Amino acid sequence: RKYKYIHVRTVGKGSNVGYIELDRPSALNALCDPLMLEVSNALDDFESDDSIGCVILTGSNKAFSAGADIKQMAPVAKYADIYKAKFLSQWDKIASFRKPLIAAVNGYANVMAGGCEIAMMCDIIYAGDTAKFGQPEIKIGIIPGAGGTQRLPRAVGKSKAMEMVLTGDPITADEAKQYGLVADVFSAKDLLPKVIEKAEKIAANSHLVTSMCKEATNKAFEMTLAEGLHFEKRMFHSTFATDDRLEGMMAFIEKRKPNYSNE
Ligand code: HXC
Repeated sequence: RKYKYIHVRTVGKGSNVGYIELDRPSALNALCDPLMLEVSNALDDFESDDSIGCVILTGSNKAFSAGADIKQMAPVAKYADIYKAKFLSQWDKIASFRKPLIAAVNGYANVMAGGCEIAMMCDIIYAGDTAKFGQPEIKIGIIPGAGGTQRLPRAVGKSKAMEMVLTGDPITADEAKQYGLVADVFSAKDLLPKVIEKAEKIAANSHLVTSMCKEATNKAFEMTLAEGLHFEKRMFHSTFATDDRLEGMMAFIEKRKPNYSNE
């Protein structure tokens, strides 16, 4: 496919890691509809490509993303228009993507509003040390609309989340790590090599069982503990219906590397 606002390629020694780079520098990667449609299409392609075991979503050295496109939103005339247009519905593709998705958040500008929300839709966030995370929607007369009031409190706790959404003030990468929003912080120049290394590690496992593992872990945010434990047990049992389960165990016993078929 041809893209205008993103670059898409594969990375890693085995070319088994998908890589999507947002590239709309004139607007600090503001997430206009055409850009998000491109991201959604790229994710669809990586999802249906069996060789891909993990995907990295990243931005530029200046900004991951400054959020939804304010210039696109400003002229919307009325509620009925935005409701009927199902505004931002294509963002859901990021949250429902079945393979591991890592946000590599670089940039000395910001991971703002919708930018922070799409990062939180990813499974793991790694940040460059100059990144900042914020939900400043309140400053322009709206509230977060893609997880800022829901995923953020689950990640950083109520008090910090409230402080962020009510003041609109951003937090630093180090604070984000301290509060559990990001898994790790690297110097800006090391960020991408380090994240590719992590992604290759993830992509080296069975892609099929990895998706099952992601699905089970995500249930921790959606179910009661009893329901989640039940779901996990059934998913664990169902790994025994895969060829890769036997391959993984036999490879351990035979002291060799597993050769997964993703079946
Ligand atoms: C459209 C944007 C933009 C945005 C920046 N730009 N953010 N355009 N939508 N969200 C444009 C600016 O208008 C400017 O264009 C260019 O990008 C550079 O931005 P500057 O402000 O000059 O850069 P800087 O001084 O470095 O400041 C960086 C910044 C600031 C702190 C990130 O740009 C900023 O506050 N942006 C808005 C962040 C925000 O409030 N986002 C909320 C979006 S609402 P020109 O043409 O003037 O050079 C949202 C809702 C989510 O995300 C709901 C989801 C469902």
